Amino acid sequence: MKWQKLLAYAKEQETLLAKMPKIMVQVGHCSRGLGVEVLMEKLSHQASSYRIVEVGCDGACFNAPQIIISKDGLNKRIGKIDPSKVTVSELIDSFEEASDHSEIDAFFGTQHRIVIENCGSVDPGNIYQFIARGGYSSLYNCLQMDPEEVLTVLETSKLRGRGGAYFPVALKWKSARSFKREQRYIVANGEEGEPGIYKDRHLMEGDPHRIIEGMVIAGYVAGAAKGYIYINAEADISKQRIDDAIAQALENGLLGSQILGTGFSFDLEVRQGAGGYVCGEETTLLNTIEGDRRVPRLRPPFPTESGLWSRPTVINNIETLAFIPTIIADGGEKFCQVGTNESPGTKLFSLSGAIQRTGLVEMPLGTSVGQLIYDIGGGALPDRSIVAAAVGGPSSGMLPTKLFDAQLVPPVVHSSGVVLGAGGVVAIDDRIPILEVIRNLAMYNAVESCGKCTPCREGTPRIVTLIENLLNKKGKKADLTELKFLADLLPVSLCGLGQMAGNVVTNSLELFKSELEEGLKTS
Ligand SMILES: Cc1cc2nc3c(=O)[nH]c(=O)nc-3n(C[C@H](O)[C@H](O)[C@H](O)COP(=O)(O)O)c2cc1C
Ligand code: SF4
Repeated sequence: MKWQKLLAYAKEQETLLAKMPKIMVQVGHCSRGLGVEVLMEKLSHQASSYRIVEVGCDGACFNAPQIIISKDGLNKRIGKIDPSKVTVSELIDSFEEASDHSEIDAFFGTQHRIVIENCGSVDPGNIYQFIARGGYSSLYNCLQMDPEEVLTVLETSKLRGRGGAYFPVALKWKSARSFKREQRYIVANGEEGEPGIYKDRHLMEGDPHRIIEGMVIAGYVAGAAKGYIYINAEADISKQRIDDAIAQALENGLLGSQILGTGFSFDLEVRQGAGGYVCGEETTLLNTIEGDRRVPRLRPPFPTESGLWSRPTVINNIETLAFIPTIIADGGEKFCQVGTNESPGTKLFSLSGAIQRTGLVEMPLGTSVGQLIYDIGGGALPDRSIVAAAVGGPSSGMLPTKLFDAQLVPPVVHSSGVVLGAGGVVAIDDRIPILEVIRNLAMYNAVESCGKCTPCREGTPRIVTLIENLLNKKGKKADLTELKFLADLLPVSLCGLGQMAGNVVTNSLELFKSELEEGLKTS
């Protein structure tokens, strides 16, 4: 189908469906844990006057499981449902009842939602709804442009990758394009093995077509005819929704050969990682796609020159690719209107831990830790107080509350070794000793080390031993010196896992020194 015809058909479908009363059930990995599938089953059998639509989650994890009832042009959100107890008539009747929105307003009110805007309100299994709301129009427009023109828009946006390294996207695509080979590849990194991070899974579950559109545009610009979406094996809902979306895109001429009747062809395959933090490291990921062991490759050469099967390969994070359609549609300048000068745009933050409102949040880069934890997250749980926040995952460190005005910008949030990473923010309250958190972060790196290089293989477990000495009040002053020595040594490791594993040590030596010293043997 050619574009104009497809667009007209999609709009017609959307108009027809919009008139019907519907209940959108937010089914994702988190709500599944709370029994949303039981709720889905009940609604499908008992709410016959409504169309029941399975959608992704909108990020308000604290309010899950959630449904949105849509009738007569009005929407009503109902959350914190107990699927085993609630009856369908209770849910339907509550459409008419007044309810308190204050928590939801506080959670969503200050957010700036671009990349997550469709999640929870668009049917991920309905390509026409995505098209009717502007989806795939950026791909259509790009195919009328020269790839260099698309690169100019991206350069203007100053978009940097959102997987943790924050490399400029236009530069990466341009680099792959510059190596003259008969085949190039695009790889979307959806491994997301890091604890406390659930942004890419949310995007794949809630808006899979946005990612596919971003990937096809990447293929067009970088001159690649084949792409892979790499999904963590545990993310089965993501895999299912991406598989379905690929099938629909193929059916509608938006993937495969001669996309939208142009000369450009692009094929897409899904690959599942067997799990492990290091599988998300880009060269390890390439090894596993090729069927090799899950260990990193030496760089250079970088993947843009020699990646999959030694061909130029662009590897981008799922969130990065999901920004592309909006940047093309709105222009690079608009993207720069929020965020900071060096780091424009928004970022997804996985906000969790000991706070009132946990969830997935989209805010401009430069937002402070305090804004996330207090304004959006609602602060401490009853009778508790927050003492710190772990920012950026196990490759990073923690900030005590007195530093919560630190801005969330890449790469470094605080000079003690706190980096933005993939954007995880975990609030820690007074129930857990800080030393235990430090040990857990260090332990994660030790367990996930692939063992290929000596500093990381030997250094990360030694850090754990030394911290455990302190935890057991058997630490010696020399242990603190050795911790510092290991932290200074680790950056020579082969890949980012080992290179960053010392951050938790430098961070605690600078900001949590007294907690470490409490672990020194007194006699
Ligand atoms: C140990 C380790 C794990 C990583 N895991 C991920 C991951 O799960 N997803 C991801 O996109 N990037 C991950 N990265 C970063 C990737 O190597 C790479 O920089 C990124 O996929 C590039 O995409 P971007 O430029 O769009 O950010 C990881 C890096 C390291 C060192
Ligand atoms: S730094 Fe760690 S994870 Fe990376 S290659 Fe070396 S041993 Fe493996």
